[in-house]
Amino acid sequence: MEQPVVLQRIDVDHIRQDFPILTRTVNNKPLVYLDNGATTQKPKQVIDAIIEYYTQLNSNVHRGVHHLSQLATDAFEVTRRKLKPFIGAAREHEIILTKGTTESINLVAACYGRAFVGPGDEIVISAMEHHSNIVPWQMCCEERGATLKVIPINDAGELDMDAYRSLLGNRTKMVAVTYVSNALGTVNPVKEIIDLAHGVGAPVLLDAAQAIQHLPIDVQALDVDFLAFSGHKMYGPTGVGVLYGKEKWLEAMPPHQGGGEMIKEVTFEKTTYNELPFKYEAGTPNIEAAICLAPAIEYINAVGLDQIARHEQELLEYATLRLLEVPGLRMIGTAREKSSVLSFLLDGTHPYDVGVILDKLGIAVRTGHHCTQPLMDRFGIPGTVRASIAMYNTKADIDALVAGVERAAAMLL
Ligand code: ALA
Repeated sequence: MEQPVVLQRIDVDHIRQDFPILTRTVNNKPLVYLDNGATTQKPKQVIDAIIEYYTQLNSNVHRGVHHLSQLATDAFEVTRRKLKPFIGAAREHEIILTKGTTESINLVAACYGRAFVGPGDEIVISAMEHHSNIVPWQMCCEERGATLKVIPINDAGELDMDAYRSLLGNRTKMVAVTYVSNALGTVNPVKEIIDLAHGVGAPVLLDAAQAIQHLPIDVQALDVDFLAFSGHKMYGPTGVGVLYGKEKWLEAMPPHQGGGEMIKEVTFEKTTYNELPFKYEAGTPNIEAAICLAPAIEYINAVGLDQIARHEQELLEYATLRLLEVPGLRMIGTAREKSSVLSFLLDGTHPYDVGVILDKLGIAVRTGHHCTQPLMDRFGIPGTVRASIAMYNTKADIDALVAGVERAAAMLL
């Protein structure tokens, strides 16, 4: 008989010691950092690697024969090597290093669009997408004469899968959806989404910006065609992101930008393009960020994504129960499957005012539309207060948040 998997609890006190910023104060209060959906803090392993890069390695990659350039190139490629098992890719050259999720999605919308989308075709996205998974596809549709179709959601913030099925057809050329909603926390049934899209021959792009740091992802098991995410939301530096693409698509699409590195040979008559992944990596990349993403991946691996998911899930459940005890608080996003995000409103108050009061108490949350204006319109609200959880958060952080929200309610209502 198969033994049940027993997950070890993560040692949050120990983890917190690795994140120097968590010991600082804000407005003379201990920092309670709950804006992890916007960006995560960095462990000292990543910060040390940044210092090490500029004191020992700084040099351009893939260009010089000299020692430092070789070292920088090797370190740059280590990140790609570590990303391969991290996302379960079959081949290293299916991993393109970009500057972030936004650039990754724009790359696919532009290059896939040019190669595969034409007049009368359809692109399917969902009602809960971040602007970065809406606007590039609108631009693509405008350029190619295609139409954007939107999967509706229910009041809990879950995709209407029947409506999704009915949107799919032989005109569908791409399905681009988020894995985890940045504004609601909904975890979408991505395997089912992918299988249904493949049933009509359409590839799928998953925006994994809010998933990659919270749950294990295996691109081959999912059979996903494109996956996009950012380094800075997974404890790594800003300015680096990832586009995973199946080899067959990356080979078939034209390059994104022209320039150095992406070429094999240039003459004024004709240019031939470099092999994967370099075909999509024109110009000098953010070398430091790419190199210093490796220790972030190592850090997540050392703690373990299953353990991180369990810890964050416990905090999410605890926070949901506690916040719902606050009179007048309305949770936006009550899907059955959720991860790490608590979006809410206090009746009769503006999210910004609640955010300012929380800030005075040293509590960092995001307020506003969270770059999801169509989603806010769907709920008929201007925005929410959003607390988003990371592996280093504690029940004490949640207690501080609840006390802060109670205080805001007392002051504003
Ligand atoms: N997309 C990021 C967020 O949700 C910035 O906060």
